[in-house]
Amino acid sequence: MTTWKKLSSKSEAVKSRPIAELFDNDNRAAGFTREFGPFMFDFSKTNIDAETLELLVKLADERDVRARAEAMFAGEKINETEGRAVLHTALRNLDASVIVDGHDVMPEVRATYEAMADFARDVREGRFTGQGGAITDVVNIGIGGSDLGPAMATLALAPYHDGPRCHFVSNVDGAQIHDTLAGLNPETTLVIVASKTFTTIETMTNAETAKRWMAAKVSDPAAQFAAVSTAADKTAAFGIAPARVFGFADWVGGRYSMWGPIGLSLMIAIGPEDFTDFLRGAAGMDAHFRSADYADNLPVLLALVGIWHNQFCSYATRAVLPYEQRLSRLPAYLQQLEMESNGKRVSMDGKDLTVNSGPVVWGEPGTNGQHAFYQLIHQGTRVIPCEFMLGAQGHEPDLAHQHLLLMANCLAQSEALMRGRSLAEATEIMRKKGLEGAELDRQARHRVFPGSRPSTTLLYPKLTPEVLGGIVALYEHRVFVEGVILGINSFDQWGVELGKELALALSPVLEGQSDGADKDGSTLQLVARIQTLRG
Ligand code: F6P
Repeated sequence: MTTWKKLSSKSEAVKSRPIAELFDNDNRAAGFTREFGPFMFDFSKTNIDAETLELLVKLADERDVRARAEAMFAGEKINETEGRAVLHTALRNLDASVIVDGHDVMPEVRATYEAMADFARDVREGRFTGQGGAITDVVNIGIGGSDLGPAMATLALAPYHDGPRCHFVSNVDGAQIHDTLAGLNPETTLVIVASKTFTTIETMTNAETAKRWMAAKVSDPAAQFAAVSTAADKTAAFGIAPARVFGFADWVGGRYSMWGPIGLSLMIAIGPEDFTDFLRGAAGMDAHFRSADYADNLPVLLALVGIWHNQFCSYATRAVLPYEQRLSRLPAYLQQLEMESNGKRVSMDGKDLTVNSGPVVWGEPGTNGQHAFYQLIHQGTRVIPCEFMLGAQGHEPDLAHQHLLLMANCLAQSEALMRGRSLAEATEIMRKKGLEGAELDRQARHRVFPGSRPSTTLLYPKLTPEVLGGIVALYEHRVFVEGVILGINSFDQWGVELGKELALALSPVLEGQSDGADKDGSTLQLVARIQTLRG
């Protein structure tokens, strides 16, 4: 029997086993927890037992995760559908030497890093100014991987901000750029246009809007623009001087790009030194991923827990629940990372996938989520594996009592999910409230929690730049391992193309310049109503 089949039958065999029962074994908690650097990863509150773990590790071994990872780190063209290497890891391991197409790419990576750091210092220390003086605000215009990473990390590291304020504009909905620019002074604002391709319609449209806004007050608006892109010809055509263009190679995927120039806004916010700590945290996780045995390897284990839940238990979604308000954009960031990487239905060799594609990822920080969707997580009919994240300390020593409450809530949730509340316990509670007979039974049933709902907890000391770098790299490699096990290419994103093409074709239909003869009835009906409503 194949390892995959063995895992399938194992999941059948244990599907009604209460997770709490696994704790009858004294070693459960320690045996299903691993540590690396600042991280403790506890996956004991899942239904994975020693035999399952062994099989999952065997699966990783059979799928050659290690060899694929080494091919990635070595710069081989593992993104086969685009013919590209995948080397975001090179952006955070600046001492390495990495050969792509016969030449070492690292001197250029280091030179770009130095140029970014110099520019960031110039902005922060007032050597680069706007027409009206020192830069007070930076607006990063980008979308997807050119927005989510820096936006998420800039918010996460707010306690480290000592540079200008940073704002992020991504949506083509004019409301966002309008509201962002409304509070800013064009004479002291720096706009960073972040786009790998420099063709993305949302970004280019917002960039033009920002340029017009600045031109109304500033004689040379382009002088207050910088660009981050792989397309030097296009940044030049936009009018941005090469000195303020920070390039990177096509072997950095959009959703993996915040370690390099796409992280410029973050670097300006927190400074090159803290940014380097952020890189160091990720590089540490890279080294751990490359060297640790699968059974002790945090990214591999996180991936195997994910594979177990998504493939063998058929749990279609996973909730990421940071008990850390400043990680409120992390679920959205991980959504792109996981769903754009592993949301594929064809394997690397072009055949239909015979297993589930990657899961739906969603979430919100605790405790807010507790007062919104946790009801369904606890008592809904579907099981949703939860991934809790928690820092032992906050950045507000005078509010330590609030942090204690936050932590108590996080631990309480994973405990409640696993333990549940039986009908007997619920009945007892309601009996004490004076209920009896049929009403007692009815009310008690509403208060039953099935329990045995799996969760993992990632604990770290405090959300520092280094810890954040480690968390993001942990998830990147997790997604990579999941993709290798599923046999898919995690580094392309063909699924975003069709909608883009159709949107381009629909603009003239909306404007009445084309009759949209090839459109379906529903689309034409919506177009007609929009035209009527717009008058
Ligand atoms: O949504 C598709 C996508 O290509 C993402 O992968 C990418 O992060 C985003 O668009 C932005 O692309 P660009 O940086 O080229 O503007």
